Amino acid sequence: MLSGKHILLGITGGIAAYKAAALCRLLVKAGAEVQVVMTPLAKQFITPLTMATLSRRPILVEFFDPENGAWNSHVRLGEWADLMLIAPATANTLAKMTHGIADNLLLTSYLSARCPVAVAPAMDLDMYAHTATQENLQTLRRRGVAVVEPDSGELASGLEGKGRLAEPERIAAFVEGLFDEKKKSLSGKRFVVTAGATIEPIDPVRYITNRSTGKMGYALAAELARRGAGVTLVSGRTQLSVPQGVERVEVETAAEMYEAAVAAFEGADGGVMCAAVADYTPAAVADRKIKKSDDDLSIPLKRTRDIAAELGRRKGGRLLVGFALETDHEGEHAAAKLERKNLDFIVLNSLRDAGAGFGVDTNRVTLIDRSGAERLPLMPKSEVAARIVDRMESLLLK
Ligand code: C5P
Repeated sequence: MLSGKHILLGITGGIAAYKAAALCRLLVKAGAEVQVVMTPLAKQFITPLTMATLSRRPILVEFFDPENGAWNSHVRLGEWADLMLIAPATANTLAKMTHGIADNLLLTSYLSARCPVAVAPAMDLDMYAHTATQENLQTLRRRGVAVVEPDSGELASGLEGKGRLAEPERIAAFVEGLFDEKKKSLSGKRFVVTAGATIEPIDPVRYITNRSTGKMGYALAAELARRGAGVTLVSGRTQLSVPQGVERVEVETAAEMYEAAVAAFEGADGGVMCAAVADYTPAAVADRKIKKSDDDLSIPLKRTRDIAAELGRRKGGRLLVGFALETDHEGEHAAAKLERKNLDFIVLNSLRDAGAGFGVDTNRVTLIDRSGAERLPLMPKSEVAARIVDRMESLLLK
């Protein structure tokens, strides 16, 4: 919660400025006091009236009120704020921040701010990818500015790519994370998380995959990062964007996931094996599209390697958590996997539970270790992730 926190919300002149309205509402709803400061151009994209209404305060744009000459003190704003959040932050404003240019009230406030500063960049994909922008972001990061990564997707220009302002919910969660001390509990630790479905090609066109969406693994990676851990997320196919503070390695096949997970496990304190890894892959991948004929077709499959079991062999005193998805004899099968893969505990999903399984945002799981089973109620995957990470933390403290 943001109760009583003073947030100076800077809005710059980009098409994504309209999302600042929803963001402001979320921050106010979470209990924050929000003072909006806009660049002159931002007024073209979202009206001062909208922002003043949502923030419940007059917004600030100019150094002076032209009507009565009253001075809008950027020094006072800088002192008042517990956090300055610039969302959206255009390439222009990021460049000016990097170079200390002070030609509007937002920028003078930034230079005067004594509080932490966060930016949520939003711009066209080529502007975002440009070396100038990337180097500016690097410099700002080095100076301690927190960056809310933009999303990938359709942009206002009609092009597809990275540069879309993070959704207001994600920015608000990021802000809460900045104020949340709990996230520090895992700082200095590093984890490998596997997530999503693998893709096993049959020929250049067809492949074998499964119904996993990656939601549970991504929620776990996000929770570990929120508590300050370094996270390498080895991800198969998914539609999800990278959680804040997480390093993603994208893979397709079980073999690629094996290589990436084993490499990332080298310097890690533990792993969470959440991916739905194919157990079988075509024995040979046809180099041309397989032509249909009137006959039936059989495709020989060979076994893939078990990533969790391999990390279990290498783990030594480190922590390893696995998942099991069962449709029958759940407890017995899960307990057998705990031993076979040398896990510290295993998270059992049953497809028999309503609200649990693929694609949904909730899950109902049982945590099983050598001393017994703890069945958790149906809850959002983010909360399931928090419970799993709580259990990991308690084992790390032992
Ligand atoms: O043996 P089963 O596939 O049911 O075990 C599930 C657990 O093992 C999950 O944690 C899954 O991520 C992991 N696994 C793996 N590599 C495989 C198969 C499963 O890491 N090839």
